[in-house]
Amino acid sequence: MKKVDVIVLGAGAAGLFCAAQAGKRGRNVVVLDHAKRLGGKILMSGGGRCNFTNMYASHENFLSDNPHFCKSALSRYTQWDFIGLVAEYGIAYHEKALGQLFCDDSAKDILKMLLSECDKSGVTVTNQCEILSIKKIDSGYILNTAKGEYQCTSLVIATGGLSMPKLGASPFGYKVAEQFGLSVKPTRAGLVPFTLHEQDKNVLAELSGISLDANASCNDTSFNESILFTHRGLSGPAVLQISSFWEPGQAVEFDLFPNGDLLADLEQALQDQPDVQLSTALANHYPKRYVQAALPYLGIENKPLKQYQGKQLEQAAQAFHQWQLKPNGTEGYRTAEVTLGGVDTDQLSSKTMMAKDVEGLYFIGEVVDVTGWLGGYNFQWAWSSGWVAGQVV
Ligand code: FDA
Repeated sequence: MKKVDVIVLGAGAAGLFCAAQAGKRGRNVVVLDHAKRLGGKILMSGGGRCNFTNMYASHENFLSDNPHFCKSALSRYTQWDFIGLVAEYGIAYHEKALGQLFCDDSAKDILKMLLSECDKSGVTVTNQCEILSIKKIDSGYILNTAKGEYQCTSLVIATGGLSMPKLGASPFGYKVAEQFGLSVKPTRAGLVPFTLHEQDKNVLAELSGISLDANASCNDTSFNESILFTHRGLSGPAVLQISSFWEPGQAVEFDLFPNGDLLADLEQALQDQPDVQLSTALANHYPKRYVQAALPYLGIENKPLKQYQGKQLEQAAQAFHQWQLKPNGTEGYRTAEVTLGGVDTDQLSSKTMMAKDVEGLYFIGEVVDVTGWLGGYNFQWAWSSGWVAGQVV
């Protein structure tokens, strides 16, 4: 039996970062992960460049049944602390948009940094280690694993959510929570593309590859970014963002002329070039291929601008400003970036991430019912929650 102070389950963003902090305090720490490859999600993230934090991260960028829970960790270990660490390692980065910071070179730099931090603090990281059982004893926990028995005083669950099972995701963390009597908020895929009903898909799949600026809104929340038509449905940042707020059966409204007044624009075109077709006027703002498909799809007749009577031009503009789409569903955990829901925050201390009623058991990162928007927020939650637990385990 190997006896250590701390066992962290899950060698992802939160687990590695937490382990390094505990190691720095002189704790004897082991990280166990069942995957073959460590930090799979970090390597895939941000298109291989890892959007490792967001300069404007605040509690307002997170979804949770208790929106206040994440405040403490986020304020104790901030994005600026992590940016400082990245700079210390000489990792070059840039802001892509909206405060999102990406590595200039590769996500590998972030993983190397985390592993180096673990190494410097004497942390042992073991992969391909299946966890077979966990037992609570007076002085801590006994774990039976594929690589032997371990005993520890603090056990940190950092096994993430359900998104991307191919990268090692599993419901393990939720099961541990339930084993120790903690409740788990219902989970569902977040930051995920929409799939479409047949009648929409027949038209929109033809537009695959086209990206448009759009303001997507649903349930009193809106995101002004871009959308992307794909063979399978609808994706792009605005869609991924709103997917976390969408409930099955609801419609999403897209303003496809989000930064202006399309009617005013068309009225100006009518004055300047009354003989021009509506499709030609719209092609000043949208790709031609999109306009050709969109007019019949939205039920708008294409004719010279001077032939539009009464409110017809207004209705045409409105169809672009208020495109209502009822998604068929989402692509689910297979492609989702995150899992909404998770271990109920009411049962965790926001200062330490320890289960209030289970001495020595901690939950950090995505397994907890705290989910960030798209844009580096989810990694910031992994760093912040990992850091606070790392101070006390
Ligand atoms: P993470 O999922 O990182 O780690 C969990 C670890 O636990 C894994 O190594 C897994 O193998 C292990 N594990 C699971 N079950 C186990 C078991 N039964 N036994 C042992 N080990 C087990 N966020 C962001 O802020 N910026 C970005 O650019 C991106 N990009 C991005 C791209 C893609 C494709 C995805 C899927 C996700 C993102 N994200 C993101 C989200 C981000 O990756 C995610 O929120 C964090 O990785 C969560 O960190 P955790 O450490 O909590 O879980």
